[in-house]
Parts: sequence; C-alpha cells; structure tokens
Amino acid sequence: MDLQQLCQWRYATKKMDPARPVPADKVERILEIARLAPTSSGLQPYEIVLVTDAALRERIRAAANGQAQITDGSHLLVFAAWDDYTPERINRVFDQTNADRGATLPGWEDYRQRLLSAYPQRGAAHNFEHAARQAYIGLGFALLAAANEGVDSTPMEGFDPAAVDAILGLRARGLRSVLLMPLGYRDAANDWLVKLNKSRRPMAEFVSSAAAPDA
Ligand SMILES: Cc1cc2nc3c(=O)[nH]c(=O)nc-3n(C[C@H](O)[C@H](O)[C@H](O)COP(=O)(O)O)c2cc1C
Repeated sequence: MDLQQLCQWRYATKKMDPARPVPADKVERILEIARLAPTSSGLQPYEIVLVTDAALRERIRAAANGQAQITDGSHLLVFAAWDDYTPERINRVFDQTNADRGATLPGWEDYRQRLLSAYPQRGAAHNFEHAARQAYIGLGFALLAAANEGVDSTPMEGFDPAAVDAILGLRARGLRSVLLMPLGYRDAANDWLVKLNKSRRPMAEFVSSAAAPDA
C-alpha cells in the first residue's frame, strides 16, 4: 500500500481482538519511527511509556471512560510530555547532539545558549503546553508507522491525565501524560466503525490559496 492507501486503511479502531497480540518487532519499529519524528529545536520533550501489564492497563482503562481498546489491544503507548524545560534537560539534548555528530559546532552552542536563556524562564505551564504539542507530532508518526506494519491503533485524548499520571508515577519523573495509543488488531466482526466510509472535509474547504486581505 502506498501512503495514501495506508491513510485510508487505518482508522481509530474501536474494537480490537484480545486474542491477537502485536509481535514485539512490529512494536519496536513503530517506536523507532516515533523516535525519529521531528520536534521543535530537536528537544524531543516527551517520552513514550510502553504499558503491557494487564492490571495497569485495566486501571488506565478505568481512567479513560472505559475505552476497551486499552485492554483489548496488546500494547499501550502513553505519550508523556516534559512538565517543564529545565537547563539540565536542554543541556542533555545538546550534549547528545554533539556526541552523535562527533563535533561541537559554534552555531549549535550559540543556539544552546539562546534556549537556555529563554526557555526555563517561560514558566512550567507554557513549557508543558509546548512540549505536549511535540508529542502530537510523534503520535502522528506512530499512527502511520502502525498502519505500515498492518497494526491497528487508536489515538486517544479521552482520558483523565492526572489519574494516568498517578497510575504510572509520571509526575515524580517530571512527566505528564498527554496521549494514549493502544496497539492491536481490529475485530472486524464487532467494530461498528470498520465498515463506515472515512469522512473528511472537502479539499476545497481544507486548503485555500492565500490572498492579501485588501486584494
Ligand atoms: C488527538 C486525538 C484524540 C483522539 N481521542 C480519541 C479517543 O479518546 N477515543 C477514540 O475512540 N478516538 C479518539 N480519536 C479518534 C478520532 O475521533 C478519529 O481519528 C477521527 O474521527 C478521524 O477518524 P479516523 O482516525 O478513523 O480516520 C482521537 C484522535 C486524535 C487525533
């Protein structure tokens, strides 16, 4: 399938088959694509917490309006954003880049200083929102990567983040849950959504050509 066909094939799966676990190698490739997703300044200010433990997923499901995909799927990806940009976190990323490139580039070091003097002072609430936006990019990449593996998934923000943070002990790690993404295989016989046409706004509404306001 080409990319467009994959986007038609995937859908926000409502009913997964609990008897069909996703193989570990597929999960690893999905995670690797998420890791390769771009982020602002390359900070990657979120982590993915992989949850397979059945009891933990039961508790998370209860904090997510009972959404069954969380327990019917075999793996649950929890996208958890940094609660703030600290100098330690920024420096860690810049040091990693230097190590990966085997060089300390002056322009990159100038950029490090710019972020260090700007980001930590913006306040945790602002920084968390910025970090959370980066997690959504990773979610998008992971959704497509799952489809490319023939794996079904559901993007989810219908859950109580504070409850999920408590269940997984995220706040103590400086993280806050932003998104859930169960992985599994569709139960086509029992999923009300699987046979319905994909619905999107028409291209003419979705894309417009720019014109000067006074033209
Ligand atoms: C950020 C985000 C949050 C979503 N939250 C939920 C959710 O909590 N539960 C759910 O069943 N679907 C959820 N969806 C699925 C959307 O309703 C779905 O993607 C949209 O209707 C388009 O349909 P499709 O993904 O099947 O093409 C979410 C999607 C996104 C992108």
